[in-house]
Amino acid sequence: MDPTQPFNEYEFPLDSNWEIPREQLDLGSTLGEGAFGRVVMAEADGKLLGPSDTNERIVAVKMVKEEHTDADMASLVREMEVMKLIGKHKNIINMLGCCTQNGPLWVIVEYAPHGNLKDFLREHRPRGQQRRSESDGYLDDKASQQHFGEKELTGFAYQIARGMEYLASRRCIHRDLAARNILVGDGYVMKIADFGLARDIQDTEYYRKNTNGRLPIKWMAPESLQEKFYDSQSDVWSYGVLLWEIMTYGDQPYPQIMSAEELYSYLITGQRMDKPNQCSINIYIVMRQCWHFDACARPTFTELVDNLEGILKQAS
Ligand code: ADE
Repeated sequence: MDPTQPFNEYEFPLDSNWEIPREQLDLGSTLGEGAFGRVVMAEADGKLLGPSDTNERIVAVKMVKEEHTDADMASLVREMEVMKLIGKHKNIINMLGCCTQNGPLWVIVEYAPHGNLKDFLREHRPRGQQRRSESDGYLDDKASQQHFGEKELTGFAYQIARGMEYLASRRCIHRDLAARNILVGDGYVMKIADFGLARDIQDTEYYRKNTNGRLPIKWMAPESLQEKFYDSQSDVWSYGVLLWEIMTYGDQPYPQIMSAEELYSYLITGQRMDKPNQCSINIYIVMRQCWHFDACARPTFTELVDNLEGILKQAS
């Protein structure tokens, strides 16, 4: 070990296709913190050197937390490698590069200035629809200038379907598609986040409440709940719940349901969420198709893209 160099816990092979000089980045505030890691905003001094063709100066840096385990580190490395393999699409959070040498592992991704879609929708609820105090602790009262009506909301859903169509074509299963995992970029471009995250679906913690006290099970297809089976068609089920979240400006799905068992018996008896008030029948039909118990009867993401494109054309 070179005593002049800072102690490094891990060593990574240099991938010159992706490496960015660490000195170029000035780390700022924390954007998010999960069970596995942390995302920090950073500013690049000038155009980012390295692989990306981006002109963006503000980026997001994914890293492990100080108190990480080897498994957390392995998960971040895997996520980075998945992002490299998947390639670029407008409707996903793209990887811009990484810093792997002489210091902690940093995975550099696009920064989305408007934050996650769930909070974004709640902040942009039409006046009169802003719930005063909800038990889930969201503040809905931020002044919002921009109005998003059904046409704009359908456009958001369309963009997410495009991103998912691309991920499915790259054989990527998301496993946690929900408004909280969509980030809103410049020009209100929808970007799917965390698609490279390895989710330990054998871990029973996964079926418990997340850090905000919400149950991720409410986005899960019946076959995922019952048999822990995931594929692109189970992502389509989750997409239907996400579509419902969009059309309700970020409501909490199935507010009365408290457990996986309760949810499964609700679904197997054919019950589904009602049509949201501000939602046209066309969009509700799409939602209901995503919620076919039989996964083969659900539309594919390509069919969803075509469907939503048709609905958007009718609306203009
Ligand atoms: N929070 C987590 N990741 C983010 C990103 N890439 N941009 C903005 N906020 C984030």
